[in-house]
Amino acid sequence: MSRSAHPAGPRHADVLPEGHYTAPAADLNVLDAKVWSRTVDRAADGTVSVGGIEVARLAEEFGTPAYFLDEDDFRARCRAWRDAFGSEADVFYAGKAFLSRAVVKWLREEGLNLDVCSAGELTTALAAGMPAERIAYHGNNKSAEEIERAVEAGVGRIVLDSFQEIARVAHTAERLGKRQRVQIRVTVGVEAHTHEFIATAHEDQKFGIALAGGQAAEAVRRALNLDGLELIGIHSHIGSQIFDMAGFEVSARRVVQLLAEVRDEHGVELPEIDLGGGLGIAYTSDDDPREPHEIAKALGEIVTRECESAGLATPRISVEPGRAIVGPTAFTLYRVGTVKPLEGLRTYVSVDGGMSDNIRTALYDAEYTVALVSRRSDAEPMLVRVVGKHCESGDIVVKDAFLPADLAPGDLIAVPATGAYCRSMASNYNHALRPPVVAVKDGEARVIVRRETEEDLLRLDVG
Ligand code: LLP
Repeated sequence: MSRSAHPAGPRHADVLPEGHYTAPAADLNVLDAKVWSRTVDRAADGTVSVGGIEVARLAEEFGTPAYFLDEDDFRARCRAWRDAFGSEADVFYAGKAFLSRAVVKWLREEGLNLDVCSAGELTTALAAGMPAERIAYHGNNKSAEEIERAVEAGVGRIVLDSFQEIARVAHTAERLGKRQRVQIRVTVGVEAHTHEFIATAHEDQKFGIALAGGQAAEAVRRALNLDGLELIGIHSHIGSQIFDMAGFEVSARRVVQLLAEVRDEHGVELPEIDLGGGLGIAYTSDDDPREPHEIAKALGEIVTRECESAGLATPRISVEPGRAIVGPTAFTLYRVGTVKPLEGLRTYVSVDGGMSDNIRTALYDAEYTVALVSRRSDAEPMLVRVVGKHCESGDIVVKDAFLPADLAPGDLIAVPATGAYCRSMASNYNHALRPPVVAVKDGEARVIVRRETEEDLLRLDVG
């Protein structure tokens, strides 16, 4: 679908994009454990709860729309990643997926490290007591101030993204009398999509330094010669929402080749490689993500094999999952406002949020699922499109789904797997007030990011 133009007004039937929905589930009351967080449950009377609290009660207390984050699930996923990779590897949670002080505290307690990519994320991490040495600092255009703050704070690593940055970080560290641990982010010529990957020689994108043309080798040469830098390894991130491990295989092979070249040229074996994040999650029942232990095993085997054939000692591996940890832990709860059947097409269900709390459908054509959660219904399934309340026809939350035909205004519906890149990419479009994030655990619910207020809007607007 072209992104260069979009209909400004209502879409007509002949321009409606093809639906790629499959048949409705046999029973719409069943919540597929694949897409719902661990403690979500529908009781015999039809009510849905999370962390032991009924959603109707949550809606009453915290309002809608709101994100409800299952703390037990979040912690369990952290532990699963931690245990899968063991003491021989490091797991950095990618804060861009969703970051708050409570999340930092959970990460700290569960033994994970943290990847940040802005001064704001660094501030949040430090404010919540993440030890600086457990923080990795990313970004393709870190400002002089950001570099200075990161070096001063003593972050465990800065991931260098350009030749200019190599010089800037080295200079800053020297000026501050420090030696900064760094990795160099390389682009390995792998483009990974959900179910496939493309290996290319060159990459046309803004991140990293290309392996192609000896660029990355030159970056290593420079970094090794600068007193302010301690080059600890090579970093590669190949994409997001990936299921196919083949892309990681090519990436690891190419990174290991570079390590071998570095050894041959400089007599130095760099001790670490970071394979980035990007592991996929289930947004719908059709998705089959891998478990952390399978991913750890596959990555470990790939790196070990490549290193053996290059005659290198296996470096310490790190990974940076964001979505795979927080994505499945939350759902967005909405209240249905209007239900508008369009004869022969589908029924438009308008909710009290929209593209301001989930831009992913509009931006990436992302697929989600949705369920009626305030009650049970045995009505026939109807094909719906869940839309928001914004002044834009592309304001779609769930493009194609089935909800019971007796759906009515006032019902609560929930969209699962919205823990990653929803609140963190939320906007104030149409002066919407960004929803709160409420952590739920053992029968207790606690706001960890509060709802924005009109007062917040006016405070920023200085008149
Ligand atoms: N490491 C680096 C260097 C990254 O750039 C990213 C994501 C991650 C780790 C974490 O990736 P994850 O495991 O969460 O897929 N807004 C998009 C995703 C953008 C990802 C950007 N980088 C989305 O909503 O799908």
